[in-house]
Amino acid sequence: MSELKPYRDSSAGKKVQIATMFDRIAPRYDFLNHTLSFGIDKMWRRKAIRLISNGKPETILDVATGTGDFAIAALKSGAKKITGIDISKEMVAVGIEKVRKLGLEDKIELMTGDSEAIQFPDMTFDAATVAFGVRNFENLGEGLDELFRVLKRGGTLCVLEFSNPHQPLVKFGYNLYSRYLLPWFGRMVSGDKSAYTYLPESVKEFPDGEKFITFMKESGFVQIREYRLTFGIATIYIGKKG
Ligand SMILES: C[S@@+](CC[C@H](N)C(=O)[O-])C[C@H]1O[C@@H](n2cnc3c(N)ncnc32)[C@H](O)[C@@H]1O
Repeated sequence: MSELKPYRDSSAGKKVQIATMFDRIAPRYDFLNHTLSFGIDKMWRRKAIRLISNGKPETILDVATGTGDFAIAALKSGAKKITGIDISKEMVAVGIEKVRKLGLEDKIELMTGDSEAIQFPDMTFDAATVAFGVRNFENLGEGLDELFRVLKRGGTLCVLEFSNPHQPLVKFGYNLYSRYLLPWFGRMVSGDKSAYTYLPESVKEFPDGEKFITFMKESGFVQIREYRLTFGIATIYIGKKG
């Protein structure tokens, strides 16, 4: 898998570095997320949730839940119980407070947990979701195997992730934005020098489109569908556990 890590001067493994990075930016994450995407991320999340709602999932696991935005959006699917896990305790702490303020503690439970060693038994959930998380996994294949394991038969996986636009003009504009504006603004607001440089680099390196679908197939997912969003800046991947 990718050797790209946020902090080049650190010898720590990718997982530790990712947790450290998100712990550092947690207080500013929501603001940066919605500002840097001009709020489009909310639209993408809504579309992703609409796509899993047909299956009427009662239980959803949101992996790499961060501050819980995707878990909260997933309520629209009609699910009775949503569980979110993330390796960054500070991101989870922000999420727990958000859920408490919204009075949603009976429906949404957020806790620390690792996508590559999920703490739940086989076949626990009707659906699993990951928004902007798979790109950060230390081992993508292991993460997808674990997601497959905890899904019930017939369960649905929904992954929302950044991808690389193909259209030359969009690609040009997006590269300018992600190489210059995004790292500059991210650094100013989050105070972390590396986080918003790592973001565009990790998007560029990520095996998106057909390559990601191949990973899903290798983990056992079937009936895979791909929806490219906003000129291919993000993609939703849906797959089933047969
Ligand atoms: C860009 S944030 C996305 C958060 C949230 N899903 C959202 O849509 O805003 C990526 C999250 O993935 C988490 N993450 C990365 N690797 C992980 C792993 N192996 N297991 C669980 N969470 C992980 C990070 O800690 C971080 O909170």
